[in-house]
Amino acid sequence: MPRTLFVTTALPYANGSFHIGHIMEYIQADIWVRSMRMAGHTVHFVGADDAHGAPIMLKAEAEGISPQELVARYAAERPRYLDGFHIRFDHWHSTDSPENVALSQDIYRALSAAGLIETRAIEQFYDPVKGMFLPDRYIKGTCPKCKAQDQYGDSCEVCGAVYAPTDLIDPYSTLTRARPVLRTSEHYFFKLSDPRCVAFLQEWTAGANAAGGKRLQPEVLAKTREWLGAEGGQASLGDWDISRDAPYFGIEIPDAPGKYFYVWLDAPVGYLASLKAYCDKQGLDFDKLLDPQGQTEQVHFIGKDIIYFHALFWPAMLKFAGRKTPDALYVHGFITVSGEKMSKSRGTGISPLRYLELGMDAEWLRYYIAAKLNSRVEDVDFNPDDFVARVNSDLVGKYVNIASRAAGFITKRFDGKLLPPDAGRPVATAQWTTLALEAEPRIRDFYEEREFGRAVREIMELADRMNEAIDREKPWELAKDPAQTERLHQVCSDCIHAFRQLTLFLAPILPKTAERAADMLGLATPLRWSQLREDPPLVIKPYQHLIQRVDPKQVDALFEPPESAAGKAGAAKASAAASTGQTKKAQNAVASKEGTVDEFISIDDFAKLDLRIAKVVQAEAVEGSDKLLKLTLDLGTQQRTVFSGIRSAYAPQDLVGRLVLMVANLAPRKMRFGVSEGMVLCASGEGPGIYLLSPDSGATPGMKVT
Ligand code: 2FM
Ligand code: ZN
Repeated sequence: MPRTLFVTTALPYANGSFHIGHIMEYIQADIWVRSMRMAGHTVHFVGADDAHGAPIMLKAEAEGISPQELVARYAAERPRYLDGFHIRFDHWHSTDSPENVALSQDIYRALSAAGLIETRAIEQFYDPVKGMFLPDRYIKGTCPKCKAQDQYGDSCEVCGAVYAPTDLIDPYSTLTRARPVLRTSEHYFFKLSDPRCVAFLQEWTAGANAAGGKRLQPEVLAKTREWLGAEGGQASLGDWDISRDAPYFGIEIPDAPGKYFYVWLDAPVGYLASLKAYCDKQGLDFDKLLDPQGQTEQVHFIGKDIIYFHALFWPAMLKFAGRKTPDALYVHGFITVSGEKMSKSRGTGISPLRYLELGMDAEWLRYYIAAKLNSRVEDVDFNPDDFVARVNSDLVGKYVNIASRAAGFITKRFDGKLLPPDAGRPVATAQWTTLALEAEPRIRDFYEEREFGRAVREIMELADRMNEAIDREKPWELAKDPAQTERLHQVCSDCIHAFRQLTLFLAPILPKTAERAADMLGLATPLRWSQLREDPPLVIKPYQHLIQRVDPKQVDALFEPPESAAGKAGAAKASAAASTGQTKKAQNAVASKEGTVDEFISIDDFAKLDLRIAKVVQAEAVEGSDKLLKLTLDLGTQQRTVFSGIRSAYAPQDLVGRLVLMVANLAPRKMRFGVSEGMVLCASGEGPGIYLLSPDSGATPGMKVT
């Protein structure tokens, strides 16, 4: 039975570019959507920018632009990422839109009419200089427990204590440094503690949806049980504060001058707003599509950090506003890089834009992520070596190989014509189609259940079986013997049939390759699972190259700072400065125009550098790199690991015990071999030499260089 699905991904805040975590979620949802479409279901897949809230307002203010201008700037760059990774939303909208204002206010009015909104006076920190109430993240002070300074308003990063902002010693506003004062104001609450809400959520979280599936994954359900106090305990749901006082960038609360919806109220309503705008554009009936009694399935892909909002607030809001409730939440974990949580501030992680700019194939990442994803709330690790190995061995070595080994013969020797599949012919490759058709229901189920890793494993096992059969038949040898022409035609036809089946199986993950392959194979698009069982076209076009191998150097460049990587990718000259992390721009600034200094920096710029004397306590060659040495440096009070591109000039044993100069406040960066926590200074010129700098005698580790 064809189904109708309304699918969303979490709406990204419109004050930053997409990071790899966003892209992973979109890839997961996009693969799922494509697979559901291949099954013949109708899918409406929408996204939007999450435009409101204090951080966006304050960032715009700091830049001297309106919040709308800030939002528009990020909205404008979205297509580059989405198109780049073949993520195909039907529509992308904004929560700062007329549709969202109308829907949010409607929902609020309905909740109010249901008796689920109440007002209460609450006391909060207020910045008297800025003239606004302060969200917790803009309040810092001294930890009441361990007395560490500059700790956030909700918890201490040093001792881990959790407290209220009012517990901080000497609190200050991070916006103005002013001491905040307590002020009272009236807030609007959604009464989540109302017995009706609690009863509904008990049922909704545990129940099955219309399609007979679970609404929540087991670990997500367990979390909601804790929050709902289901294990015989008291429901511990607090009422939800949904209002913020002006100044605030958000949607006005009806009949409440100066009050705005808290961003998390109108953010999920943005899912509906985006669908509404899409329906209006397409001439679809939005109300009918989301009729609470209707058949549409509403599915939200989200990360594990926002379960609370989606599993409690959101269904309750919809339910008591008389609207359709979600049918499933598909929650994923975070993406880590070589086992480490990524952090933008520490310079780790992968920039999706750099990935594309380096000319890396989006489908490599789609395939790698798919191979690692399952239906549980588990983190996905990006491991650079594993990435290279997987893509090269699976996509190029196993999948594409099947076509490239046979297509040339079909074109040159048989005029592009295939023999129809026939499991009865006496060649080793003939049985394969039977195997593939037998695997089909499993593979389709794996896609539907978001067990993409298992789908990929099953598909690659099929590819292995085919490659083994090809190795037994050796078409390249059959081709040398005119008596074997018929057999060659049979084997190569089987190869192309296998390649067609594999292409269909991989199509949700590799949409562009599937499109190109479909053109070569004469398959009608959009591709459908049903084509696996149809009589295939029997004429092919000449084979065109389909997927490139990953060059490990590209992956290295992905982890280097942008400018030095650009230099490395573009320039033949790999200077010592670049390999130690000094950027091209820095080199140009200091020594362009025949050695004259042509750009000045201020003393303040220079003061930003924390240059220190360090002692090399350990030095070793890095396996797999002909440029790098791994240095352990003593800075007096601590040790640091630094990867330095000086292997061509220094033997590791000669360095131990010697003093060097290092940049101690360079953001750590993830390299293929580990994290480098600084940079040692070297001199280099046009010639090949690299010369470490060292201090005069008497200097000791940790001394500051000024
Ligand atoms: O956590 C976030 O990035 C939010 N902007 C997600 C919102 S999802 C939905 F509710 F809009
Ligand atoms: Zn503390």
